[in-house]
Amino acid sequence: MTANYSTTQSGAPVVDDSNSSALGRDGAIPLTDHYLIEKLAQFNRERVPERVVHAKGGGAFGVFEATEDVSKYTKAALFQQGAQTETLLRFSSVAGEQGSPDTWRDPRGFALKFYTSEGNYDLVGNNTPVFFIRDGIKFPDFIHSQKRLPGSNLRDADMQWDFWTLSPESAHQVTWLMGDRGLPASWRTMNGYGSHTYQWINEAGEKFWVKYHFKSAQGHEALTGDEAEALAGSDADHHIRDLYENIEQGNFPSWDLKVQVMPYEDAKNYRFNPFDLTKVWPHADYPLIPVGKLTLNRNPENYFAQIEQATFAPSNFVPGIAASPDRMLQARIFSYADAHRYRVGTNHAQLPVNAPKSEVRNYSKDGGARFFFNSPQTPVYAPNSMGGPAADPSLTGPEGGWENDGDLVRAAHSLHAEDDDFGQAGTLYREVYNDAEKARFLENITGAVSGVTIADIRERAIQYWTNVDADLGAKLRANLGSASGAAQNSDAEAANKF
Ligand code: HEM
Repeated sequence: MTANYSTTQSGAPVVDDSNSSALGRDGAIPLTDHYLIEKLAQFNRERVPERVVHAKGGGAFGVFEATEDVSKYTKAALFQQGAQTETLLRFSSVAGEQGSPDTWRDPRGFALKFYTSEGNYDLVGNNTPVFFIRDGIKFPDFIHSQKRLPGSNLRDADMQWDFWTLSPESAHQVTWLMGDRGLPASWRTMNGYGSHTYQWINEAGEKFWVKYHFKSAQGHEALTGDEAEALAGSDADHHIRDLYENIEQGNFPSWDLKVQVMPYEDAKNYRFNPFDLTKVWPHADYPLIPVGKLTLNRNPENYFAQIEQATFAPSNFVPGIAASPDRMLQARIFSYADAHRYRVGTNHAQLPVNAPKSEVRNYSKDGGARFFFNSPQTPVYAPNSMGGPAADPSLTGPEGGWENDGDLVRAAHSLHAEDDDFGQAGTLYREVYNDAEKARFLENITGAVSGVTIADIRERAIQYWTNVDADLGAKLRANLGSASGAAQNSDAEAANKF
């Protein structure tokens, strides 16, 4: 056996790990000390850019077992009863940077990679079933408003509420955010949602619209604002620690996957647009159908290689699952794979954590850090007459389409009878939140809106909550009237900071 001596990156023996070469004991270091240079240069390149959103996170590997028969809705191999599929789940917060506390109020990411026998299927969701906007063209603006001011580099209630109140479609998600879901006690004790409407296709080619719900078997637990604040100071990595330690101790967290299924034709005349990401489908109309169970049972061995370099893309579909007319989903189908090429590199899909378990056969080649290559006998183009990989002629496609019509427009989606911005937010507040949750909710929005310094925006925020629920708006107005630090800046003065 070779002794455990250190080597350079090129495998040559290292003479000394602690002393650089020098021209005499007190002399300068020559450029020929390439081992020192290699160490410093490698160190300078240890980081890839953090994710532009969802930068702070953690995750674990596990298994998904399809326990029920849903073959009448999808032919996807991973959802056939009895199938077991290896998975990677990454949790995250959205707005904070890599070192930010796990317990800042925020939606939480729930990004799931299924390494299926037919390629990777990525379901990149959140712990809430809806989102702030319904068109991806607003996403960069939305995120800018939640991050930092360009001058002071501070987060800012004025711009958060300016954006939200000028984007009333955000009301439903902000009602989730300011409730208990905004402060989960741990990643184990929260649900996950695919959020978008997706398409399932069965063996006969029949299409269905579907929404995914991962229900935590650990139950639902939230932190109070005070607990979250204390943890932000005492243990900024509280959620990473909780997940890691529970898995180390063999206390494997699990989630039951259920889906809502809408027959394809229903979408045309449903009472609101079923592809609008700011809406949930009432369970009375489309009840939850059990599918299977997801269990996390293995911590990563290396955070950087397996979590930081993990790339989850809503464009990664497998046969039997496809997109929908949801505009947000379509924007995301472009955005993530593009982010991955920039953040991790053109060949990110070759990395062990991202590579599918099924074989990859195509004519892509070269690019930075490429290490997978076809045999020299394989042609480099298609079509070819040399027996290289070719598309399966038995497949007809494209799979998962839908009827499209109309001229090219820039306009909101067509309205169904009950399309509006505030209705479901009001129902969530009035009918889902109990009295204690309502009280905490009012306290949270009072605290958040009292950070607004521009009078106009504050007034709009009160109106926004009045539109959600008139009584809630009145209580907020009363609270803000008596809260200290009422908005004093004139709009012009305050706007200077932007
Ligand atoms: C991460 C874009 C909406 C959930 C990201 C990343 C980008 C992005 C560029 C970083 C990807 C990376 O570097 O690996 C967008 C755009 C959206 C959008 C353009 C709207 C059009 C959403 C929605 C959800 C969501 C609606 C949830 C339902 C996530 C999650 C991550 C993420 C969970 C972290 C993935 C991971 O753990 O690696 N998003 N996003 N995003 N996004 Fe979105």
